[in-house]
Amino acid sequence: MRLIMIGPPGAGKGTQAARLGDRLGVPHISTGDLFRAHLKENTELGQQAKRYVESGGLVPDELTEAMVWDRLGRDDAKNGYVLDGFPRNLAQARSFERRLNETRTALSRAVYLRVPESELMRRLTGRWWCPECHATYHLASPAASKVCENCQTGLIQREDDRPETVKRRLRVYFEETAPLVDYYRDRGMVLEIDGGAPVDVVSRKLGQQLAEGGSR
Ligand code: AP5
Ligand code: MG
Repeated sequence: MRLIMIGPPGAGKGTQAARLGDRLGVPHISTGDLFRAHLKENTELGQQAKRYVESGGLVPDELTEAMVWDRLGRDDAKNGYVLDGFPRNLAQARSFERRLNETRTALSRAVYLRVPESELMRRLTGRWWCPECHATYHLASPAASKVCENCQTGLIQREDDRPETVKRRLRVYFEETAPLVDYYRDRGMVLEIDGGAPVDVVSRKLGQQLAEGGSR
């Protein structure tokens, strides 16, 4: 299956994409995680992307697309993937469609996670993640352990989860990314899920609906 995840910052794209990837036996490919890895390694791409990622803007399409084509061309993505964070605007969606046609492949579904805006800020400001294996946690309580359950690495908060930067990311989402829902709806591909429910409920519904819809 080839899936893309659409939804505002904090909708749970990363959380659900990781679970779906495990369940389907395909890689979870997050453009945000790829950029953060480049930033951490201080690669040339990391240096070019840094100011956009840290300020909550979009990285230019040419840089993003080159990185995504490279990742999708690897062996582990030959039989499918869960793509999280791409495409992010209409230009990227059109390039992606051309790319899929050239490689004679097709998307199975565009999963749209719908979450009320009031919930997003709460989720993002409580998010902690593992810089090693990229597992994501929500720590509302300061007493909660700040160590990754998978690999025992110390958890950190993302630079762009500061309230001012979250506000900008939300603005960018509504201006640039939200139109993709109609773009994929026009193509009959959208699977809309209530992402405001608890994590396990969202996973279960998503799994059921994908199974019911078949793997086009
Ligand atoms: P990216 O990393 O993709 O950030 P984002 O889209 O803002 O999304 P988030 O990762 O913040 O949210 P999420 O939906 O994955 O939520 P999560 O599962 O973590 O992109 C970062 C930056 O990279 C961009 O700003 C841009 O600069 C650049 N970039 C990336 N792609 C690009 C592209 N294509 N073009 C140009 N630039 C690009 O969940 C959030 C929190 O909520 C967690 O704490 C989680 O535990 C909790 N949670 C999740 N689900 C639930 C639930 N159901 N109930 C309660 N809590 C939940
Ligand atoms: Mg994410």
